[in-house]
Amino acid sequence: MKVASPRGGVGAVVREGKGSVGAPMEMLLERESVLGQLGVLGQRAGRGAGRVVLLRGEAGVGKSAVIRRFIAGLDERVRVLRGYCDPLATPRPLGPLIDMLAQLPKPEAGGLAAAINGVGAEAIYTRLLGLFADGNSWVCAMEDVHWADGATLDLLRFLARRVGTLPVLLLVSYRDDEVGAQHPLAAALGDVATCETLTRIGLDRLSRDAVAELAAGGAVNADELHRLTGGNPFFVTEILAAGPDTLANSALPRSVSEAVWGRLARLSAPAREPCSPGSGGMNSESCSRTPPRSSFVRTLSGKRSTSSNSCEERTTARSTTFSSSRTFPGQS
Ligand SMILES: Nc1ncnc2c1ncn2[C@@H]1O[C@H](COP(=O)(O)OP(=O)(O)OP(=O)(O)O)[C@@H](O)[C@H]1O
Ligand SMILES: [Mg+2]
Repeated sequence: MKVASPRGGVGAVVREGKGSVGAPMEMLLERESVLGQLGVLGQRAGRGAGRVVLLRGEAGVGKSAVIRRFIAGLDERVRVLRGYCDPLATPRPLGPLIDMLAQLPKPEAGGLAAAINGVGAEAIYTRLLGLFADGNSWVCAMEDVHWADGATLDLLRFLARRVGTLPVLLLVSYRDDEVGAQHPLAAALGDVATCETLTRIGLDRLSRDAVAELAAGGAVNADELHRLTGGNPFFVTEILAAGPDTLANSALPRSVSEAVWGRLARLSAPAREPCSPGSGGMNSESCSRTPPRSSFVRTLSGKRSTSSNSCEERTTARSTTFSSSRTFPGQS
């Protein structure tokens, strides 16, 4: 086990299993290098050279799982804050920061809350900088910023330009396949693109071997599971949890079908229209930020859409891939 640095460097001692008494640690495959990279960046942040990590990947690829595991392994002296953006029709102003208030001691939370409730962003930024200057190392996770409101994106802009001299590792997760050219996050990412404090990490789907490892000991055929899911960890783990009959009966678990249909519901009709890769999909592929999936899975859309969000829609739909032979409960 590594020894904690005097400041409690972020990547130092492991508090493995913390907060999960009685619950087994979730099995996390093919994420060693990402966790190692975060550990190194955390160590540096603990020495006052902070960093923003942009952790991107499609829905269910394991962004939250990586953050969870990284936080679980932190030295207990590291101060951790975690907040979320939500898929609300009207995003909460500064939603992640408001989540974080509950994780701060009362006096600190009170001061920050007063600043949030006050007029102008300056007081909030001043409070935050004061907080980070308390002599500790900090890890702040802002999850799902593809759903962030403008004030949260401004906070990201502000911190990205200053974090280099702060003892803060700022972890920012987002679904990259939901961020098209017109998306507010795209503009924010463009604004901070030249900041030296930025590290970009993309998460890939699991390999066939990893899927086989997750399926080991069960009756689910690993090749079939990998072919069906393309290696998306959420789909893989949900289908495994549903049991071997799922594949045999050609019916996906409700959690999976609801996730897929929920995403498709946001698309326009043309973008929802199924088509296989290669049949009219060439134009849309050029817009894709993710590589084409296995030739065995069918892309639920990919046709050119006339909507202004067509690029986002096509990439969203493209990552929502499934074998066309499967039926979604309640949707057949
Ligand atoms: N590397 C992995 N190995 C095994 N299981 C994984 C891995 N990554 C994630 N999982 C499992 O897949 C599921 C989805 O992971 P997670 O919620 O972290 O995805 P996400 O990228 O945060 O999705 P979203 O964009 O919806 O927030 C979880 O049950 C998680 O335990
Ligand atoms: Mg998540």
